[in-house]
Amino acid sequence: MISRRDYSEDPFSGRRRRRCWLALGAALAATGCHADHRQSMLHPESAAAAEIAWLWWLLLAICAAVFFVVVLLTGLAVWKRPSGAAAPAPLGNRFILICGAVIPAMILAGILYASVRTQVALRMPETDLTIRVIGHQWWWEVVYPDAEIVIANELVIPAGAPVRLELLAADVIHSLWVPNLNGKTDLIPDKVNLMWLTADRPGVFRGQCAEYCGVQHALMALRVVALERDAFDDWIRARQQPVAGPRTAAQRRGERVFMQEACHNCHAIRGTPAVGTRGPDLTHLKNRRTLAAGVLPNTRENLKDWIADPQRHKPGNLMPRTILSPDDLAALVDYLDALE
Ligand code: CUA
Repeated sequence: MISRRDYSEDPFSGRRRRRCWLALGAALAATGCHADHRQSMLHPESAAAAEIAWLWWLLLAICAAVFFVVVLLTGLAVWKRPSGAAAPAPLGNRFILICGAVIPAMILAGILYASVRTQVALRMPETDLTIRVIGHQWWWEVVYPDAEIVIANELVIPAGAPVRLELLAADVIHSLWVPNLNGKTDLIPDKVNLMWLTADRPGVFRGQCAEYCGVQHALMALRVVALERDAFDDWIRARQQPVAGPRTAAQRRGERVFMQEACHNCHAIRGTPAVGTRGPDLTHLKNRRTLAAGVLPNTRENLKDWIADPQRHKPGNLMPRTILSPDDLAALVDYLDALE
C-alpha cells in the first residue's frame, strides 16, 4: 500500500519558514555578507577591487532588471492569453523585434563597454617592487628576488603602492585570489603569469587558492600583510638578517634533531646547512601568523601538534610524520619556535 503524504498542511508553515530564513541567512553569511568584511570582493580595499565591485553591482542591477521585466511579461502572457489556437501576437511583430533583438543588443553592448572599461582600469601600473609567488600543493612560496628573502603563506607588501606579482606553479594549476584587493589570476607550471596588487591601507587581507588543485585545495590560504612604507622597509631589513643561533641547551638539541632527522631535506633555514626547497622556508618562522597555509594559528602548541602528526590537520599534504621521542619533539619545537 502506498502511503500518501498529507498535503493539507501549510507547505510554508511557521517552522518551515524559520528554517528557510535560517538557510538564507547562512547562505548570505557564507557568500560574503558577513559583517566583518573579510575576504569579500564586495568590500574593496583598493582602486582595482573597487572597479571590479562596481562592475559586479552594475551587472547585478542589469540582470535583476531584465529578470524582473521577463517575469512580468511572462506573467502577462499567461494571464492575459487570448483565446484561440492561432491568435496573433497581441503587441505586434515590431514589439518582438524591439524587445527580442534591439534592446538585448543594446544591453549587451553596454555590458561589453563596462567590462572593457574595467579591464582598462585594471592595467598594471608602474611599480618598483616585484614579488614572485609560487603555488605548491598546498601552500604558497613567496620570494622577494631583489632582497633575497623567501617566506611562505604570507605576502608582505607596502600599503598604498602597487606591487607586481610574478606567478608560477611548482606542480599543478593554482589561482591566486585576494578578493579585497584585486581579481584572480592562475598560477601555471612552466609559465609566468603577471598580476598586481595594491592595498589602500595597512592591514591583513585574506586570500585563497581559487582553482581546484587537489584534496586540500580549500586549505590553501594566503595572507596579504600591508605595512606602512617605513615598517615595510624595516621588515625587509629584519628578514634579511640570518636567524640567531640556538641559545639554550634545548634549542641546540632541537637544531641537532632538525639536521639529523628528515626535516632539513625539505625545509631551509637561512644561515644553517638546511637548504631544502620542497617545503616552506622556515627562516623567521616565529613571525608568521599561521601554520600550514592558514590551517592553524602559529602557536607553540599547534607547532608541536603539527610536527607530531601533519596528516591529522591536513590529510594528503606532503609532510610525513616524523617519529620522535617526546624530548626530541619538545627540543625541536623549542628550536623552531625561537626562529625570529
Ligand atoms: Cu591551490 Cu587550489
